[in-house]
Amino acid sequence: MSSTEMKVETLRWFNNRLEMVDQRILPAAFEYLSYYTAASVAEGIRSMVVRGAPAIGVAAAYGVALEALKLSNALEGRHSGLDPESSAFNKLDSRFRGNDDAVVFNAGMEEGFKVLVASRPTAVNLFWALQRMRKVWEGVATQSPQEIAQRLLAEAHEILAEDIRINKAMGAHGAALLKDGARVLTHCNAGALATAGWGTALGVFRSAVEAGKKISVIADETRPFLQGARLTAWEMVQENIPVTLITDNMAGYMMAQGEIDAVVVGTDRVAANGDVANKIGTYMVAVLAKRHNIPFYVACPLSTIDLNIATGKDIPIEERSVEEVKGFRDYHWAAEGVKIRNPSFDVTPAELVTGLITERGVVLQPDAQNIRKLMRGVQG
Ligand code: MRU
Repeated sequence: MSSTEMKVETLRWFNNRLEMVDQRILPAAFEYLSYYTAASVAEGIRSMVVRGAPAIGVAAAYGVALEALKLSNALEGRHSGLDPESSAFNKLDSRFRGNDDAVVFNAGMEEGFKVLVASRPTAVNLFWALQRMRKVWEGVATQSPQEIAQRLLAEAHEILAEDIRINKAMGAHGAALLKDGARVLTHCNAGALATAGWGTALGVFRSAVEAGKKISVIADETRPFLQGARLTAWEMVQENIPVTLITDNMAGYMMAQGEIDAVVVGTDRVAANGDVANKIGTYMVAVLAKRHNIPFYVACPLSTIDLNIATGKDIPIEERSVEEVKGFRDYHWAAEGVKIRNPSFDVTPAELVTGLITERGVVLQPDAQNIRKLMRGVQG
């Protein structure tokens, strides 16, 4: 195993259930939580057990498959003469009982999609994955619930495997942009934990190290949820990739000192004109990078590009609980009674982006025309 080989399976299919690393408690503890239904997966996404745009998409795909499996098992129980009071039968919503199988199955699936679609608003990968799962479902809708469920599960496995392949391709393209010895700043966590594996921005770092480059990473702490301090720093330490943690407000100083050669971040949604939504604070970093003439790259799988959104202004920005800003867990450092805001993402205008690193290559100076060209032939 090379030093950059993945050591973490962020999501995995294990014993007929989805398991996800509980990212809320990392790095203090490493634990998997189990998921059996669309509703529980949606809650896992909402509460940030799983987070990061591609990982959210993969989780949602499994959520759809789990719902199909749950419904088909319950219907089978009904037909095999199981006691109607059995737990499998009771998993069916009482409103659906008495209807024929297809009606029960379809209604249950729609409920599953509804709860998943509402779990988080900004990362487009969630909606991309749900749309892909819906298309697959529509393609086999006349088959039995068991067959549909198996087809959906196979698709979820494929989305997971594809995500890792895409990250490795992006990694290779991105690694070529970094000089040997480069000191690279990143914001938030766009690593193995934010994807099915390897990562987008951190995938670029892993690929650079694999190619023999001696890079070092500067990780922004990423207030308020601390994805940088807790997750990026942990991932890099696990793999002996040199990493230095700074608080978010130190980035300008580090750039002014000449201690940063490039910035690479991930993204939750890129608009058709190249504007980039990513973790709150990314815009600040991009402005600073411009000021200091430092290249600012965004690692971006094509599934994160939303051609239905013309500019960044139309990207929905999640506002999370003020508790995240007030303090940490039970300890509150903010003055009681103070008004608090907690927008979780911001938008970096395309003009500040040096290049988008995608699985199809690097798009320098992304704009509407470049992005249209890049997306040619991609299924919408
Ligand atoms: O709120 P989070 O932790 O889901 O936000 C994650 C980010 O902003 C990541 O940078 C982005 O999803 C890209 S992950 C490859």
